[in-house]
Order: sequence, then structure tokens, then C-alpha cells
Amino acid sequence: MPRMAGAGEVGDSGGGTGECVAGLSQGFDCIRVDCMMMQPYYQDESVTIYHGDYREIVPELGEFELLLTDPPYDIHAGTGGGCFGDRDHLVNTGGFTDGGCDFGFLDGVDNWFCFCSRKQLPVVLSLAQSMPRWNLITWCKPNPVPTCNNKYLPDVEYVTHAFQSGRLFGDMRVKSSFMVHPCGNKTTRHPNEKPLKLVSKLVTLGSQLGETILDPFAGSGTTGRAAKDLGRKAVLIEIEERYCEIAAYRMRQEVLSGIEKDATYFAIAEARIARADPAYRLL
Ligand SMILES: C[S@@+](CC[C@H](N)C(=O)[O-])C[C@H]1O[C@@H](n2cnc3c(N)ncnc32)[C@H](O)[C@@H]1O
Repeated sequence: MPRMAGAGEVGDSGGGTGECVAGLSQGFDCIRVDCMMMQPYYQDESVTIYHGDYREIVPELGEFELLLTDPPYDIHAGTGGGCFGDRDHLVNTGGFTDGGCDFGFLDGVDNWFCFCSRKQLPVVLSLAQSMPRWNLITWCKPNPVPTCNNKYLPDVEYVTHAFQSGRLFGDMRVKSSFMVHPCGNKTTRHPNEKPLKLVSKLVTLGSQLGETILDPFAGSGTTGRAAKDLGRKAVLIEIEERYCEIAAYRMRQEVLSGIEKDATYFAIAEARIARADPAYRLL
């Protein structure tokens, strides 16, 4: 039976399903998936991380005030053309290739931010337009990867915000529809980590202190980190264990009190990632 992770502790089991013994589950947000109890991969007072497929987990969750997420773009992993040939660094897009991202996770949500590619924009915008209010935010990158072959520079990405009236917060500093943030200053090895400052602005725009944010495609946990820093709560879901581990490591940062302790947690996280995927490293 998988061990229940302690607060702020990463689960050895990788968050797999297992019987949840009442005593063990006390204080943790176990959920029932496929008639089994699933324990969080990680949990502290602000952030809960589930390791699994959002399609199974989201229906079991409680209420949240904001959904902020960054689903896989319609990009094929594996070898590709263009200037840079090898695209193995791209995250495994699973069933989302061939333009097939299913945005059903936005159904019935009345306050959401969704990152998307240019190709996904028509679908996401049509969903947004069924909401009382919506806006298209452009993330402008002043340092794009150079390109050739008659292509525009990859210097913008899009974030759509759809929301109910009265759910837009923050002041002038965060309310611009174009947000300029360089890409590449990543703090983890997740190939699609988004800039923390950019995600923090979105958290400020779409939620208030103490509210709960859901991210069903959590990756390295940028949404959770921003939520925690800004006094919100977050529930993160990630299908790949190595990324759960990276996210858990990031969530734990605030409780670290010195370089020595940091090094210990780093070593533990490295070892767990190596077990899940020997070819991968934490940072
Ligand atoms: C674009 S990345 C998110 C990156 C994130 N915003 C960050 O800053 O690190 C999308 C993530 O969704 C995960 N994913 C893909 N399909 C999923 C599914 N069905 N359920 C949960 N996570 C999934 C991928 O493993 C990947 O880490």
C-alpha cells in the first residue's frame, strides 16, 4: 500500500492509487478514482498535487474560484524540421497531437485563464465568447528563438481569460492585455515552464486572497508557486511523475531555511526522479 505523504512531503508512491486507510488519510485530501482512493502526491497548507490524468481527477474535486492552466500545444514531439531539427525536448503531448486538444475541461467553469497556441486560438476564443466577459492576453517575448524558412518569429503566445462580471481584480500594474516577459529564464527542466512573473499577474487578475485555483496541466507547478506566493491555494494535477516531483520541490522552497537543508531536499528529489525516469534530472 502506498505511504501517505506528510505535509510538505513528497509521496514515495508517486501518488498512485491504493486503499486509503481511514487513519492514514486523516488530514489529507484523498479522492476516490476508479473505486480506489488516491492520495495526493504532495500536500501542504496551500498546495495539493495529484499525480494522474486530469480527466479522472477533476470530477472528484471540490469547488475552486479560478482555473488557470497551460495545456499541451498542438506540437508533435519527436524529430521535426525547421532550423532546430530535434524536438525531443518537447513535452510528450499524449493524445493532444494532431490538433486534438480537448478543451472540455473548461466546460462549466466560470472563471478561467487558458494558455494556447495560435492554432488552438479559434477553439479557445469560441469557448470564451460564451462567457459574459472575456479578454485575449498576448505574452510578448522580447528574446524569441531565431527562425528561418519564411516564418514569423515565435515571439508571442496567447492567454484567454473568460470570466463572470466582478471577477477581475488587481490594479493598473497587472491589467495590460500585452505582457512582456522574456522566455528562457527557467528555474526547472520542464520544457514548457512559464515565467513565474507572468503567471503571478494572472493569479492577481483572476483571484483574491485565500481563494483556490485549479491547474489540471500543472507541469513544473508554476501556478502553484504563484498561488502560494500570493496567498492563494492551489490544486495541481500532472500526469508525469517527474514533473510532479519538480512541482513538489518548488512548493517546498518556502519551508527551507538554509542552503544545507535545500541541498538535502534536492538530493531526495533527484533520487526520486531517477527512480521514476533514470534519464531525467531535477534542474
Ligand atoms: C504545457 S505543460 C504545463 C507547463 C506549466 N505551465 C509550467 O509552467 O511548468 C502541460 C503539462 O500537462 C501535462 N499533461 C498532459 N496531459 C495531461 C493529462 N491528461 N492530465 C494531467 N496532466 C497532463 C504534461 O505532462 C505537461 O507537463
